[in-house]
Amino acid sequence: MTNFVDENEEEASLVLQKNIQQGNSSYFDNSNYFYIAPSIKKYPHQWLWDSCFHMIVNSHLNIKSAKRELETLLKPQEENGFLSHIHYWKSNLNQVDKLFRPYYKFSSKSSLTQTPVLAHALNSIYRKEKDVKFLEKKIKPVRNFYDYLYEHRRDGKDEIPLLNIIHTWESGIDNSPIYDKALEIDVSQENLESQWIKAEIKQLEVLKSCNWNIKEIFKTDFFLYKDLLFNCVFIEGYRILARLYKELNNAEGSKICNKRADELEEILIEKCWDNKRGLFFGNYSKYNRINKVKTSLSLIPLILTNLPQDIASILVFDHLLNEDEFWTEYPVPSVALDEKAFSAKESGLLWRGPTWININWFIINGLQKHGFENIALQLAQKTFELVQKSGFSEYYNPQTGEGMGANNYSWSTLVIDIQKRLLNVNLDFIFDKEWTRIKRLPGF
Ligand code: GLC
Repeated sequence: MTNFVDENEEEASLVLQKNIQQGNSSYFDNSNYFYIAPSIKKYPHQWLWDSCFHMIVNSHLNIKSAKRELETLLKPQEENGFLSHIHYWKSNLNQVDKLFRPYYKFSSKSSLTQTPVLAHALNSIYRKEKDVKFLEKKIKPVRNFYDYLYEHRRDGKDEIPLLNIIHTWESGIDNSPIYDKALEIDVSQENLESQWIKAEIKQLEVLKSCNWNIKEIFKTDFFLYKDLLFNCVFIEGYRILARLYKELNNAEGSKICNKRADELEEILIEKCWDNKRGLFFGNYSKYNRINKVKTSLSLIPLILTNLPQDIASILVFDHLLNEDEFWTEYPVPSVALDEKAFSAKESGLLWRGPTWININWFIINGLQKHGFENIALQLAQKTFELVQKSGFSEYYNPQTGEGMGANNYSWSTLVIDIQKRLLNVNLDFIFDKEWTRIKRLPGF
C-alpha cells in the first residue's frame, strides 16, 4: 500500500479542480469570481465556511487557487464586516434556492452568516508562503468580520453574553437535534422533514419581518442560539488573528484579539460546562434554555486553547472514546449513538447521526492541542479509512462507513490537511484499546 497522501492527494486535487466555478457575475457588477463549489450539482454557489475549508486544503495543493478563492469570498463583504453564508455568483438556482432566496435582503447573497473559519483559512495561506504583503492586505477585512460578530451578535444584557446565531443554517449543522426544542419540533411525529422545512421558513419569516435588523431580531427572542460550534471556532479565530498580528508587529491588534478570545472562552467554559453530565451544551433564548441532547458539538470545546485538562480528559475518555456514544466504527457521529434522535440513514435532514469530515478535523485539532496525540492519530486513521472506503462524500454512516449525500464533496478533502499539517507524520502503525502501538501497516 502506498502512503495515504500519495494515493489521495491527486484525487483531492481533482475534486477541488472539478468543482471550480469562475467567470463574470451579472449579480455583482460584472465582477470576476473564482471559487470552489461544495458540490457542482447539489451546492453550486459559494458557501462561507466551505470556501474556508477549501482554502485550508488548497494551501497545500494549490496556493494560487486558495488566494483567489479568498479574494472572491471577500468581494461581497459589507462595510460593517458582515459576510454572507451563500454568494449567488451564478444565476443557476435550484428548487431550494428558489424557495429561500426571496427572503434575503439582496438577490446576490444570503442575509445569514456561517461559522467563522476565515481566520483559520488566512492562517493556512500565510503559513505556506509567509507572504507578508498578502497578510497585510487581508488581515483587515478578515478582522472586520470577527469584530462585526463580536459587536453585533452578543446581547449585552444577556447573562451569558456569547455570540448568537439567528438561524440554524448559521452554525452550518442545519437540522441537528440540538435545535429541535428551540424550534418546537415534535420528534414523536412521523413528519419530521416537513416540520423542519416549516421551521426553516418560519425562521426566515421572522428575520425578514424585522427587516434583518439585528436589534429588532434580538427583541423577538425567537431562535437565538448561543451555539457551541460557532462560539468555539470564533474564539480560536480571534486567537489566530492575534498570532498573525504578532507576525506583523502589531502588538495592539494582537492584544485586543487575545483579550476578546479570553473573555468569551472564560464565559463559555463557566456557563456551558455541565459538570454532572461531563459535557458542554449551548443555550438558547434570553432565558438561556438548554436542550441536553448529546451531539458532536458537546465535544467541540476541545479546540479551546485554555480548556482545563480535567475537563478535556472527561470529554475524551468518558464520551469520545465511549463506544455507546461517539466511538463508533467510523467516528465521530454527529449525534451520540445512544440518543433517541440518532439516525445513520441518508435523509433530507442533515446532521442527525452521520460523520462529517470537518468536525473530525476540528476534534483532531483539539486532541492534539491537549496532548492526546495517540487518540488524534487513531481518529485520523479512522477518518482516512472512511475516505479510502467511500471517497469524498458529503457525510458517512458512522457504523458502516458508507458514503452519503453529495459525491465529490469538496471539504471532505480536509483529510489532506489532517495528514500534512496536523499530523505531519507517516501513519505507519495502529493502536489497540490501551492506545499502545501494536502493528505496522505496510507502507502506511
Ligand atoms: C450543507 C451543510 C452546510 C454546508 C452546505 C454546503 O447544507 O449542512 O454546513 O455549508 O451543505 O456544503
